[in-house]
Amino acid sequence: MLTNDIYLQLLQIVGDKKITRDAAELSYWGKDSTQFSANASAIIFPQNIEQLQAIVQLVNREGVALVPSAGRTGLSGGAVAIQGEVVVSLRDMNAIKQFNAIDRTVVCEAGVITADLQAFAEQQGLYYPVDFASSGSSLIGGNISTNAGGIKVLKYGMTRQWVAGLKVVTGAGDILDMNKSLLKNNTGYDIQQLFIGAEGTLGFVAEATMRLTRPPEHLTVLLLAVPHLTALLQVLAHFQVGMELTAFEFFSEQALQKVTAQLGLQRPCSEVGAYYTLIEFEAKDDMVIERAMSLFEQCLEQGIALDGVISQNQAQYQNLWRLREEISSVLAQWQPLKHDLSVPPSQQGEFLLEVEKILSELAPQYQVIWYGHIGDGNVHLNILKPDELTKAEFDHSCKAISVAIFERLATYNGSVSAEHGIGLLKKDYLHYSRSELEIALMKGIKQQLDPKGLMNPGKIF
Ligand code: MLT
Ligand code: ZN
Repeated sequence: MLTNDIYLQLLQIVGDKKITRDAAELSYWGKDSTQFSANASAIIFPQNIEQLQAIVQLVNREGVALVPSAGRTGLSGGAVAIQGEVVVSLRDMNAIKQFNAIDRTVVCEAGVITADLQAFAEQQGLYYPVDFASSGSSLIGGNISTNAGGIKVLKYGMTRQWVAGLKVVTGAGDILDMNKSLLKNNTGYDIQQLFIGAEGTLGFVAEATMRLTRPPEHLTVLLLAVPHLTALLQVLAHFQVGMELTAFEFFSEQALQKVTAQLGLQRPCSEVGAYYTLIEFEAKDDMVIERAMSLFEQCLEQGIALDGVISQNQAQYQNLWRLREEISSVLAQWQPLKHDLSVPPSQQGEFLLEVEKILSELAPQYQVIWYGHIGDGNVHLNILKPDELTKAEFDHSCKAISVAIFERLATYNGSVSAEHGIGLLKKDYLHYSRSELEIALMKGIKQQLDPKGLMNPGKIF
């Protein structure tokens, strides 16, 4: 429990402008983008790794739990203080430090905004490829702690792939400075990887060395309307075999209707499909465009595409992407139950048809919106809450639907959380994706790095 005395000791570390117990601040900083309400006892803003370490060492002496906070954009309740924890915001540790043009790396403090790293890379003639709708507010430390994915995973992988080195404060208050830009380093266990996707349960990511790459050339997007789910997967197979892609995303007609109505955007093409794909590639020369158009025509001939439109300039490219990227924020008003499922891409045709059947049997009364990263085998199902139900009633009635979906998912060795993390939202379902032994090993690792159990307690398990 945070006593007055401990509060004053924390204040001594950061100064009185960098810690608060103001009620409005606590409810703002105490939560992420989920519906869980905050119950934080203080919010503290360390300015550097030394202060962060001093905070962790202090709470180890005093027995106060901490919750890490980055951009507060999480979708699984991983950064919510629900039991009187002190929230540690990495917001002010936001320096972009050394850039190394030869290694193509840049050192970032945890509080660097994703879009600022992307802009920095661009200034150097390079590219940071992890990208998603919340890039303007999410922080690198949060991206690393949740191993964020996004819309370009098909070509560039998840955040993990871009971390070349990591400096952390462990739950015991020690600093670990790991890997330091090495491309090759086979010297035993790779401890750095444990902190990526750990959701702050092992300690704090303070600083990261991020890799950059060459920028893509002439990114172009082809949007296709498709008649049904099976056709969507056939189009995916067709394009994946036929050409190199940087993204393959999808959304349903219902998603399109909600986004166009809410934001006053134009529908992309005249035909109405059940689903739409966004197929992105580098149009390095005319031959690539010709290849994409010929694959599109083959899809039309086979009846697996109904219509299509290709971006001819940057504005059209951005407008087409908006139709996909705005879905999540538009749906937020319905307080949806969010599923973030993945199975091996080659098996998703069969799996998704089974999910459709489960939904038609168990959830006919609810509107379900499909979208996501189908090229990665990852779909987001959002079940919308009807106005007449409270959030608690709705969540309760969705339990049976979730269990039915997860039981099928487990038979495909799928993941209950492909990219949003476990946090509070999915922890009852972790066993569908991880064996008892794996969970026991995870708890053992936590015990080693956070022996007093003060780092984001109650998250993941
Ligand atoms: C997305 O793909 O749009 C994000 O993961 C957010 C979401 O699923 O709501
Ligand atoms: Zn997503």
